[in-house]
Amino acid sequence: MNSKATELVAPHFVQRCIEHDCGHTFELERPIYTCSVCNGLLDITWTDIPKQDLNVLRSLWSNRKTSTDSRDQSGVWRFRELLPFAQNVDVISLKEGNTPLYDARKSASYCNLDALRLKHQGANPTGSFKDTGMTVAVSQACVLSARLVACASTGNTAASLAAYAARADLPCAILVPTGQVSHAKLAQALDYGARVLEIEGNFDSCMRLIRELSEHGSLYLVNSINPFRIEGQKTVAFELVEQLGWEAPDHLVVPGGNLGNSSAFGKGFRELLELGLIQKMPRISVVQAVGASPFAKFFLSHSNDPANLQFADESHPTTLASAIKIGAPVSWKKAWRAVDETNGTVLTVTEQEIADAKAIIGRDGIGCEPASATTVAGIRKLRAQDLIKADEHVVAVLTGHVLKDTDYVIGYHNKSLSSDTEGLLKSNFNNAPIAVTGGRDQLQAVLTSLYKG
Ligand code: F0G
Repeated sequence: MNSKATELVAPHFVQRCIEHDCGHTFELERPIYTCSVCNGLLDITWTDIPKQDLNVLRSLWSNRKTSTDSRDQSGVWRFRELLPFAQNVDVISLKEGNTPLYDARKSASYCNLDALRLKHQGANPTGSFKDTGMTVAVSQACVLSARLVACASTGNTAASLAAYAARADLPCAILVPTGQVSHAKLAQALDYGARVLEIEGNFDSCMRLIRELSEHGSLYLVNSINPFRIEGQKTVAFELVEQLGWEAPDHLVVPGGNLGNSSAFGKGFRELLELGLIQKMPRISVVQAVGASPFAKFFLSHSNDPANLQFADESHPTTLASAIKIGAPVSWKKAWRAVDETNGTVLTVTEQEIADAKAIIGRDGIGCEPASATTVAGIRKLRAQDLIKADEHVVAVLTGHVLKDTDYVIGYHNKSLSSDTEGLLKSNFNNAPIAVTGGRDQLQAVLTSLYKG
């Protein structure tokens, strides 16, 4: 099919403050990250629900997968009717998205579920879910003629921004906490040519600094507080539903750090429901590491006292899942909206639970980085409490590739993984290398012991 011939009219979009008693709107061209009236977070919203023929839309998006147009080959831009850009915009893309949805039998059995599906965002060009948002944020940076793009990062945003900035030929500055980013992620950012600025402190200190600096001057901030990032990441909900034959799962489980990803899934599913492309929202649940769990604490105190809407940052977050070592998540209100409106939950898992779940995901031949494994650990817990039924349709979002943090993997399998809070972890599913001494006969004996059956 010639996709140009069927291109549909895109709706009109604005940036809108999410605070109910404010709701101010701003034009898309305004490079702001929060409401200039009340400081609330911003959503990008359409001004009236686009009236599209749903069958035409579905087949247009699906047919683009076989097109040679570079926008069509992106799993983000093939949904461009629902993105806030002119249809002929030049996009900065690395053919992100279109990531696999795997059936994971060993993980399902570990969670005591009939089936479990893993949406692997680690299969993106830089190995994490950040790419789906970054293609949109960096494309917007170009629309705005930004002179410098910047972010704070625990590593994946850094790697992703560095790559997209290189594609766009834009200077790029990245703030990371000294010594707290995995070598693999740092290596990516350096290789793609970003200027990496190491800061004493943690991710939250980096985030605070860069936000302050972005209020003045002309740097363009592309952390997930930037609503254009969320626009890209929301398309993962579209793609997932498409992979499921245009049905939402019963339950979607995501890791929670700065809380942009859970916010984006909430927005994506909400838009699908508004358009009539799905009939129900999935429950959206967020899992945090117990040592870095301000959102889970908020959820608990709000559940105990619904009048309590106070969010307390954590000043010393700690977890070996360094991607989500975050105590002051900027998007908590949007993530809360996603959890609340879908009747989801927020829970914590221990370092031990994360490490074991990660090893099981590996045994499915899939693998992921530690932060991603919070999902399977969390699902196991929810299942044990009967908060998920065995026959429910559950999808866990894996956010990063297994090679993002190999020190962690080797530490686990060598039984030397140790956390500040839990000490030396047990390597319940360890698989250490076997040192074969002697010669051919010894090697043969080892190989024989490995035969199946
Ligand atoms: N999983 C991975 C692998 C991540 O890198 C992150 C966040 C998250 C989960 C949490 O997602 O922040 O949207 O709730 N990494 C950011 C970074 C903070 O700088 O790379 P979130």
